[in-house]
Amino acid sequence: MVQLLRDCDAEIFQEEDPTLVNYKRLYSETVLRTVFDIAKKVQEVLKDSEDGLIVLSGCGSSGRLALLLANSFNKLLKGLHRSPSYTYIISGGDKALVTSQEAPEDSPSLGVAELEKVSEGKKKVVYFGISCGLSAPFVAGQLDYCLNNLDIFVPVLVGFNPVSMARQERIEGWHSSFFQVAERMQKLQEAQKAFVLNPAVGPEGICGSSRMKGGSATKILLETLFLVAHKADSNVDISEKCLLEILRTYERAHKVTYSQSKKIAALVKQAGTSLQKKGHLYILGWGTLGLMAIMDAVECIPTYGTDYRDVRGFISTGYSGMQNKEGDLTSLGPEFAISHEDFVKSVLPSMTETDTVVFNFTLDDDLASVEKLTLQVKEKTSNLQAISHATAGQYLPATIKKLFPSIISITWPILFLEYEGAFIQNFQRELSTKWVLNTVTTGAHVLKGKVFRNYMVDFRVSNTKLFTRAVTVLQRLSGQSQTRCEETLLRSIYGTEVLSDEIRDAETSKHVEEASTKEQVVSTAIVSLLRNCAVHEARARLETYPTIRAAVEASLNAIGRKRSVINIEMRSTDT
Ligand code: F6P
Repeated sequence: MVQLLRDCDAEIFQEEDPTLVNYKRLYSETVLRTVFDIAKKVQEVLKDSEDGLIVLSGCGSSGRLALLLANSFNKLLKGLHRSPSYTYIISGGDKALVTSQEAPEDSPSLGVAELEKVSEGKKKVVYFGISCGLSAPFVAGQLDYCLNNLDIFVPVLVGFNPVSMARQERIEGWHSSFFQVAERMQKLQEAQKAFVLNPAVGPEGICGSSRMKGGSATKILLETLFLVAHKADSNVDISEKCLLEILRTYERAHKVTYSQSKKIAALVKQAGTSLQKKGHLYILGWGTLGLMAIMDAVECIPTYGTDYRDVRGFISTGYSGMQNKEGDLTSLGPEFAISHEDFVKSVLPSMTETDTVVFNFTLDDDLASVEKLTLQVKEKTSNLQAISHATAGQYLPATIKKLFPSIISITWPILFLEYEGAFIQNFQRELSTKWVLNTVTTGAHVLKGKVFRNYMVDFRVSNTKLFTRAVTVLQRLSGQSQTRCEETLLRSIYGTEVLSDEIRDAETSKHVEEASTKEQVVSTAIVSLLRNCAVHEARARLETYPTIRAAVEASLNAIGRKRSVINIEMRSTDT
């Protein structure tokens, strides 16, 4: 699995090959040109921090990355004694930074309201709408708003599907589809009034799991773009060489990270064993690596239908380290507890030997606190591992080394790139940690039987995109018509064999509302379809198998089943 995901991630850096598929890639001339053009627009805003603003916005992982990037570049500006120019928006507000809030992704009007709020009084705004699959209505609403106010806004759509593969269905309660908005943007690109930045990075390892490659590519692409804009801002002559140099550092980071494949595989196995035994996986991070931990853990909820307690991330200094707009959210409930202090208070006392704990830190972090927390965890479980980042010449103290049975220890070369060097190094460490954690949590859920082939088969149907995805997965696995699959999904959602007219006539949002609190909706529908049985029988059958994958496999192989799997066209980040 680690090798498969390594190769899959390597596709981000694959060069354009017109003899294979005619897609623009990260290193394609047109993509690099677009990055340059947008960087120039950003640079104009940077010159005028009073009236200008750079907005990064997205849903789920894309919104969490928006926060991370906005914070990184405001920090970079601060170091140059300049005022912050970046801000972020995440659908669902700051709650969605640390918990799974999928429903607000469906609302264009919520998106518009948020954008109006942050950009009030600004005269020049470069807006980045991140939607890896070119699908989120929340982002579509904001792009549309920008397109209607081009005197102030320069909209940029960031994603990893060609525009022709953007989501085509009309957005419920709205005038357009995502595709129509993206098309309008594309038409304005030549006049540099709007931009679509959408290199192909190849399909996701797990179909539709855009938190993985999509998220990594977002980070690489936008960090590079802003670094270039800042360089230009400091009157340094920007050449294509400089852009390529930055991109190559990420490519090297991929090699350096996956050179630890054996150790990563051991960690996948360990984490998988914990989840199989109904134990937990806790990921503790220092500084922004804590944010990477939270980002990874939270996304397991919609992707694998897990409980928030199963996989959890914690950041050393909690909300103050996260630097979110709404401040400390701890009082909102136990799932909002994110600091190491919270971990010690509320998780550690009940931790057992079946749990796995992963520590993520750099040798520049407070190593005394790493040591202290490790000793506390060791009293509860021996299943602990570390991912540690050093710069050439730094060595992990023996006192810490001896606490871990195994350490994924990555040493990064010193980058002689003036002021930005330290930032680039941090970006690499974050990305490297993201790659390892994505692999670990994905692999662990595969081991837990939450994946069949490369399909998620137990995800939560918590927004319209996921509803459509559920229908597509059912079609793929059963070979049945879209209508039949949709009906079976509805029967599973409502727990009924007979669909009333009221259910049949309801909008998708109503089905999503009903489904989002329920468990095993998709897997029940799969078994019901494959076995041609009632949904209550399918639920009962699911119970008799050790994993969902085993239930799906057995249903596919059931005697008398006609083996036909149709080939449905899916968007590139979906296949
Ligand atoms: O709805 C859940 C989800 O698919 C997350 O996994 C993802 O991070 C988010 O939506 C945003 O997806 P996109 O960037 O494609 O809009």
